[in-house]
Amino acid sequence: MTDALRLGFGPFTAPAKGVLVAFCDEGLRFGPATRRALAPAVEVVGRAAKAERFTGKKNATLELVVPEGLKATRLVVIGLGKTADLKPKDFLRLGGLAMSKLPNSASDATVLAEMPGGAMKSEQAADLAQGLRLRAYAFDRYKTKRKDDEKPPAMRNVTVAVSDVAGARKVYEPRSAISDGVLLARDLVNEPANVLSPEEFARRAGALKKLRVAVEVLDLKAMKKLGMNALLGVGQGSARESRVVVMRWNGGKAGEAPVAFIGKGVCFDTGGISIKPAASMEDMKGDMAGAACVVGLMHALAARKARVNAIGVIGVVENMPDGNAQRPGDIVKSMSGQTIEIINTDAEGRLVLADAIWYTAQRFKPKFMVDLATLTGAIIVALGQEYAGMFSNNDQLAERLTKAGLETGELVWRMPLAPEYDKMIDSKFADMKNTGGSRWGGAITAAQFIKRFVDDKTPWAHLDIAGTGFDSRQTDINKSWGSGWGVRLLDRLVADYYEK
Ligand code: BES
Ligand code: MN
Ligand code: ZN
Repeated sequence: MTDALRLGFGPFTAPAKGVLVAFCDEGLRFGPATRRALAPAVEVVGRAAKAERFTGKKNATLELVVPEGLKATRLVVIGLGKTADLKPKDFLRLGGLAMSKLPNSASDATVLAEMPGGAMKSEQAADLAQGLRLRAYAFDRYKTKRKDDEKPPAMRNVTVAVSDVAGARKVYEPRSAISDGVLLARDLVNEPANVLSPEEFARRAGALKKLRVAVEVLDLKAMKKLGMNALLGVGQGSARESRVVVMRWNGGKAGEAPVAFIGKGVCFDTGGISIKPAASMEDMKGDMAGAACVVGLMHALAARKARVNAIGVIGVVENMPDGNAQRPGDIVKSMSGQTIEIINTDAEGRLVLADAIWYTAQRFKPKFMVDLATLTGAIIVALGQEYAGMFSNNDQLAERLTKAGLETGELVWRMPLAPEYDKMIDSKFADMKNTGGSRWGGAITAAQFIKRFVDDKTPWAHLDIAGTGFDSRQTDINKSWGSGWGVRLLDRLVADYYEK
C-alpha cells in the first residue's frame, strides 16, 4: 500500500495552500470561518454557483480553478443538503467525496470542517478525516509505468481545519486505528496469490505482535495432531502448506470469556478437481477476504486498545488440482469427529471453517463466534453486492449485527437456518456431504453445513461476504477491489456491546 497521506488537524486560520474544500447547505449558506476564508472570492463563487446551477444539494459539488482573490489553486464546495439530517456515516462519506476532488497535481489541501451553523463537532470532523483516509487508499504497488500526470503526489498533506484541534485529534485516534485495520484487510485481499501464500499470510498476521497481539501459527504437524482433516484435505493438492493462525488480544478483564472471529482464508480457489471455468477465475485470489477481515479487525482492536478479550482464528489454504488433490467421493474425518463426503471440491470454504470453528469453540469457549467467508456464489444471486448474508442461531447477536451494519453502512441481511434444509446435506456414506446436491438455497445449505460444527449453546453468526468482500460496490469511501468489508462492522459490534 502506498499510503502517501499526511492527514492532520489544524485551526481555521491555517493558510490555505493548494486545494481548499468548503461545505455549504442547500441555501448556499456557509459557516462564519468559511465565509471569512472565501470573502475575497465571494462574488466569483456566487457567479460560478449560478452558472453551474449549484445550490448545495447533498453530494453536489462545485469546483473553481484558480479562483480570483484566493491563494488556493482550486476551490471545491461540497453541498450538505439539509444539515439537520446528517448522520455519522454521512461525514465519513463527505470525507470520501472531498478526497475524490483532489487532483493528482495537488500535494496540499485544507478541508474546512464547518457547517452553516458553525464548526463541526470533533466526532464529525474525525469521521470526515476517516473518510478522507479510506478514500485515499490505492493498491498500486505493482504499477511501474505510470506517466507523471497519472501519478498522485509522492506525499499529500491534508489538513482538516477545526475549532478544537486537540479534541478532534483525540477522537480521531481510534478511528485512525480502525482505518489502519481496513486498509490492512484491503491490502491482503488485493495481493495476488503468487505473493500471498498461506505461509506469507501467516507471516503478515505475525506483524500484529508489534501491537501486543499474541500470534500462534499452527503448522501441518500441529494441525494433523489436532485432527483438522477437513481443512487439510482442501490444501493437500497445493504445493504450499496450509496454516491456521490464532490471534489473541487481551484488552478486557483477565479470565473473562473472549469474543471470537473466524475467517475463511482460501488464498486461491481454483475449485480443485471440480475445477472452475476460466472466466473470472483470477478473482479467486480474493477468496481469503474473510480471513483478511479478521486480521484487519484484530489490528483495529489492538491499535485502539479495545477493552475486550478477542480471538481471531483464520484457516489459510490454497485449493488446487493436483495428483495429490482431494477427489470427489473422498471421505474425511473433521476435528469434531463428524465425517464428510466430498461431493464437490469447489465447496471448500465450509470444510476450512468446520475445523477452524470447532477448534475455536473447544479451546476458547467464547461468548460468541462470528465467522466470515466468501462462501457461495448463491449469496450474490440472493442479495447482490449491497448486503452480506447473515445466518445466526441467536436473535440477540443477529440484531446487534444488524444495528452495527446500519450504523457503519456495512449491511447484513438475515437469512434462514432450519432443520428442513438439513436433509439436503445428508450423505449416503458419511455423516454429511459438502454440497446440497442442487443449486437451490445454495447459501443456506452452506450455512446449515457450518452449523453442524457449532454447538447450540454458543451464540454464532455466519456472514457470507462473497458479494461484499471483493469486486464490490464502489462507494465514496472505497474504490478498491478488495473492500476491507467487515472491519468497521465488527469493530462497531465490539465497541457498542462488548467493551467495559
Ligand atoms: N469461493 C467460492 C464462492 C465465490 C464465488 C465467492 C464467486 C465469490 C465469488 C466458493 O468456494 C465456491 O466455489 N462455492 C461454490 C459452491 C458450490 C460448489 C456448492 C459456488 O458458490 O458455486
Ligand atoms: Mn470454491
Ligand atoms: Zn472458495
